[in-house]
Amino acid sequence: MEQDRWSQVDAYLEERLLPPDPVLKEVLRASDQAGLPPIQVSALQGRLLGLLVEAIGARAVLEIGTLGGYSAICMARSLPPGGRLLTLEVDPLHARVAQENFQRAGVDDRVRLRRGPALESLRALQAEAAGPFDLVFLDADKESYTEYLEASLDLLHPGSLLVADNVVWEGEVVDPASPDPRVQGIRRFLDRLSREPRLTATAMQTVGNKGHDGFLLARVLPAR
Ligand code: SAH
Ligand code: DHB
Ligand code: MG
Repeated sequence: MEQDRWSQVDAYLEERLLPPDPVLKEVLRASDQAGLPPIQVSALQGRLLGLLVEAIGARAVLEIGTLGGYSAICMARSLPPGGRLLTLEVDPLHARVAQENFQRAGVDDRVRLRRGPALESLRALQAEAAGPFDLVFLDADKESYTEYLEASLDLLHPGSLLVADNVVWEGEVVDPASPDPRVQGIRRFLDRLSREPRLTATAMQTVGNKGHDGFLLARVLPAR
């Protein structure tokens, strides 16, 4: 009942606020056809990611967890000319479908996908002195969010924005005894954030066609 209503409201808001988007529709169809799980951000959340890219004038975006490239496309479309997005994905099938979707969406000129375990890619990026990135979207395995946070911090600059998906996990995040390693991963991430003086953070619970979850937003403070 609640889920029905949340989905109806998402559909209503999408219809009012988002222009018809045959390309994103096709991206979802291709991902579904390839057997990818439908765990990409919602259309409204995708637009939020794009708006954030635009609002901070991001020119360099890092994504951890690509899936079929839906959220990456939402952000890449909002980049200014010359802007770049790098996305990290471990699953070869997801990576292949995403590459095809980047072409489909006409963003393959500004999007690069790096295959492999994200933590290894982040370490390589540190070694290469890549970045700094203006925005990082954290959305891969929840168990490793803390390590991704620590590794990304070195790739950000004062004023950079960190966005993390799935920080509420159907409300399970409040259960310290949860046997779910994903919940424990998110709790460890939030504990780590609470001890991080370089970031100022907030989180919003969300309901919609993806159930009950939450988006975390954090900004790297100016050095002091
Ligand atoms: N951001 C996407 C959804 C990502 S789903 C969107 O909204 O469109 C999470 C993705 O993280 C999956 O594709 C999964 O394969 C990937 N993933 C899981 N563990 C990973 C790891 N260790 N390194 C890189 N990617 C990983
Ligand atoms: C899962 C992962 C996600 O990033 C998400 O938004 C929803 C579900 C999952 O691994 O089940
Ligand atoms: Mg997610």
